[in-house]
This record gives sequence, C-alpha cells and structure tokens, in this order.
Amino acid sequence: MAQFWWVIFPYAALAVCIVGTLYRFVYGQRGWGSKSSEILEKRWLRVGSLLFHWGILFVIGGHVMGLLVPLSVYEALGVSSEAYHLLADVAGGLAGLSATAGCLILLLRRIFNKRVRRNSTVSDFVALTLLFLVIALGTAQTVVYNNVVGPYEYRLTVGPWTRGLILLHPDPALMAGVPLALKIHVVLTFLLFAVSPFTRLVHVWSAPLRYPTRAPIQYRARWGRFVSDARFHPNVPDAPPSHHLGGEGGRIVGWDHRTGHDEAAVAKERLVQKVR
Ligand code: HEM
Repeated sequence: MAQFWWVIFPYAALAVCIVGTLYRFVYGQRGWGSKSSEILEKRWLRVGSLLFHWGILFVIGGHVMGLLVPLSVYEALGVSSEAYHLLADVAGGLAGLSATAGCLILLLRRIFNKRVRRNSTVSDFVALTLLFLVIALGTAQTVVYNNVVGPYEYRLTVGPWTRGLILLHPDPALMAGVPLALKIHVVLTFLLFAVSPFTRLVHVWSAPLRYPTRAPIQYRARWGRFVSDARFHPNVPDAPPSHHLGGEGGRIVGWDHRTGHDEAAVAKERLVQKVR
C-alpha cells in the first residue's frame, strides 16, 4: 500500500498533470486561463483573491525552504531547530491562515452568489474544494498539530521523500510515521495536480509576469458615452473634442493625424450598422 500512495500514485498524478496540460495547451487554447468572474461579483472576489494569492506566495516559499533544502544545510548554517520552527510556525501559520481564509471566501462566494454559481462549471467547484482541503489540512498541521500535539520534524521525513520523488528514487518508508493530516495533505495535493489541467487552475502557467511593464490598454466606450477619462488625452493636438461622441471634455485619443479619421467614430458607426 505504501508503494502505491508514495510512489505509484504521485507519479501517475504528475503524468496526468503534464500530459493533460500539454494536451489542453495545444487543443484547448480558447478556454486556457481563468475566466474572470469580476463582472459578476467584485467585493468578495477582491478580498478572497488577495488573501489567497498573497498567502499562497509565502506558503510556496515555505515549502521550498522546508522540503527542498536539506536539514544538513540549516545545521551547517547554524540555524537551530527551534529558530527554524519558530519562523516556520509563525510565518507559515500566518500565510496558511491567509490562504485558507481567502480560499474559503472564494468557495463560499462561488456557492452562495447566484450570478457566480450560475456561471460556474463542475470543474470550478472541484478545483476550489480540493484546493481548500489541501490548504486547510496543511494549515491545520502547522497551526493546530504543532501547537497541540507537539512540533513535528518533517525535514527528516516528508522533505527527503519529496526530494527523492523529484530525483526519481522516492523512499515510501519515509512516509510511514507521518501524521495522518499531513499524509492526506500530500495525497490530495497530487489529486489536485492530476485534475488541474481540466480546470481553471491552468492559469498558474500563464502568470502575467509582464503585466507591470506592459503598455496600458485604453478602453473605448461602445456607444460614444465615455466611462473613463483614460479615453481622453488633453495633449493630442487637432483631435476633435470629445463631445463629438457624447463625451464631456478632453480630446479623442483615437484620432489619427495622418488619415484625419476618428477611429472611435468609425468603430461606433460600424457597430451601429451591425446592430441594425
Ligand atoms: C508534494 C507536495 C506537498 C508536500 C510534500 C507538502 C508538505 C507540507 C508540509 C510538510 C507542511 C508543514 C506542516 C508543518 O508545519 O508541520 C505543509 C504545510 C502547508 N501546505 Fe503543503 N505540501 C505540499 C503541497 C502543497 C500545496 C500544493 C499547497 C497549496 C496549494 C500546500 C499548502 C500548504 C499550506 C497552506 C500549509 C500550511 C502553511 C505552511 O506551513 O506553509 N501544500 N505542507
């Protein structure tokens, strides 16, 4: 049984994750990403998403420190077990609580907000529920188990097992005495990896890293009534005044000096024709 859970199952899940992701990337480009539900509900999305994403960022950092860096490295650096666990429990605990609260808010929002629920798929609920269980169990281990039962040194068991898995020689015996919540945390993590290609979680592979440096997108109003001042640019000489299209001031950005065409007006006209 240990061979199944700690060798066969993780590799099978990773194989499904890699092949499924490649398949979806090649054949499912149109649905790739995480379809935004901001237009349906904004307030709880903002709270939940911020808590979840900031929390998970620090949790990932903690997993690298605790699972990928061997205990011997900390010993060589003179970091005592007490100092490590104090930092891991406080920082990891706070990050875990933030991620858990954020994920719970997102899950409840998806269940109880009618507009969001009606625009959700089964895969949205499966992904969010699994994610919540993984995070809640990890946080329970860090916050509850370590403080109630006593500190658990995962750097001697789960850590070497994870590194063994990456280096293709996992030792299932290392996982034998691991607390049950942590075992379930790891098993559900691989289940999450296996289902992720078929859910909105594929967006983790398309993190918008260039977002802060890219040129801003200018939005145009559909019917000539402008929703944002970004639409106007006071420094564009010779552009017609915005009230030309129903705006209230400034100049129209879409004005092309070379052709003398007002792109926004042309686009609006085309839309009107289309609707008619
Ligand atoms: C091979 C995969 C993973 C392994 C082996 C693993 C293992 C662990 C371990 C050993 C802990 C620390 C428990 C303690 O403090 O005693 C932990 C905590 C935690 N894990 Fe994981 N984990 C994995 C994947 C994940 C994933 C994918 C997520 C989130 C999506 C996650 C979220 C958490 C959270 C929120 C905590 C509590 C906060 C913290 O200590 O960082 N884990 N996990």
